[in-house]
Amino acid sequence: MKQKEEEKILEEDKEADEIIALMKDNIVIQANNLVKDYHIGEYIVRAVDGVSLTIRDGEFIVIRGPSGAGKTTLLNLIGGLDSPEKDKGTIYEHGVKISDMEEESLATFRLINSGFIFQNYNLISTLTAEENVMFPMNLAGVTFKQARDLAVKLLKRLGLGQRREHLPFQLSAGEQQRVAIARAMANDPPVLLADEPTANLDKKSAEIIRDLFKDLKALGKTIIIATHDDYLIELADKIIDFEEGKIINEEIISNKKQ
Ligand SMILES: Nc1ncnc2c1ncn2[C@@H]1O[C@H](COP(=O)(O)OP(=O)(O)OP(=O)(O)O)[C@@H](O)[C@H]1O
Ligand SMILES: [Mg+2]
Repeated sequence: MKQKEEEKILEEDKEADEIIALMKDNIVIQANNLVKDYHIGEYIVRAVDGVSLTIRDGEFIVIRGPSGAGKTTLLNLIGGLDSPEKDKGTIYEHGVKISDMEEESLATFRLINSGFIFQNYNLISTLTAEENVMFPMNLAGVTFKQARDLAVKLLKRLGLGQRREHLPFQLSAGEQQRVAIARAMANDPPVLLADEPTANLDKKSAEIIRDLFKDLKALGKTIIIATHDDYLIELADKIIDFEEGKIINEEIISNKKQ
C-alpha cells in the first residue's frame, strides 16, 4: 500500500516538473502520441495515428493535407473537443492536462482558453447572428449589456453590422462563417482553432477573414488553422503536412522560442 502511495507521489512530482518545463518554454499546447479511432460497425478508422506536437505562445500553425487525412479530428483533439483513446496520448494546454479531464471541467476550460471556428460553422439555427455571438459570453457570466455591446462591435468589425438580426439560414455561407468567427473571438481566448475558415467562400468574406487572421497574429494570439489558402499559409510560423493520421513533414518558418 505504502509503495503504491509513494509511486503515486513520484508520478505527480514528475508531472509537475513536466508542466513547469512546458511553461518555461512558452509551450501553450503539448500533444504526445495522440491516437484517435472511429468505430463503424466492425471497421476501425484510425483518424489520428501517434501524433506529437508542440505549439508555443503566439505561433501561427497551418495544418494541411488531403481530404480524410484527419485534420478536423486532430484540431478537435488539441482543442479539447474530443479526447484521445484511453491511455493513447496526452495533451497539455496552458499547463493543464486536458486529455483526461471530465467533460464538464473541459467545457469550462474551453470557454476561457480556446475559440473554435468549425468547418461547417455550427451556428445555433434558432438564434440570430448577434445572439450566436453573445452565447459564449453568456455562458462565461458576462452581463447581457456587455455581451451585446461586444457582439455588435465584433459583427461590425466583420462587416456584418447590418446582419445582426438575421438567423443563420438568412445568411450566405461567407456571412455565417464570419458570425462563427465573431463567436469564436467572443471571450477573447488566447488560442484560436480554425478548420478551413476560408474554404468555399465568396471573395469578400475570404478577404475579411484573411485580414482578421493577420490582425489576430499581430495581437500575439496562438492560431492553429487547417487550410489550403495560400494567403493564410503565408502567415504561418510552422506548416504541418498531415496524411493518413500522421505528420509527414513540419516546416518551421520562424522560431518563436527566443
Ligand atoms: N464521426 C466520425 N465517425 C466515423 N469516421 C469518421 C468520423 N469523423 C471522421 N471520420 C473518418 O476519419 C478520417 C479523418 O476525418 P477528418 O474529418 O478528420 O479528415 P479531414 O482531414 O478533416 O478531411 P476534410 O479535408 O475532408 O475535412 C476520415 O477517414 C473520416 O472518414
Ligand atoms: Mg476536415
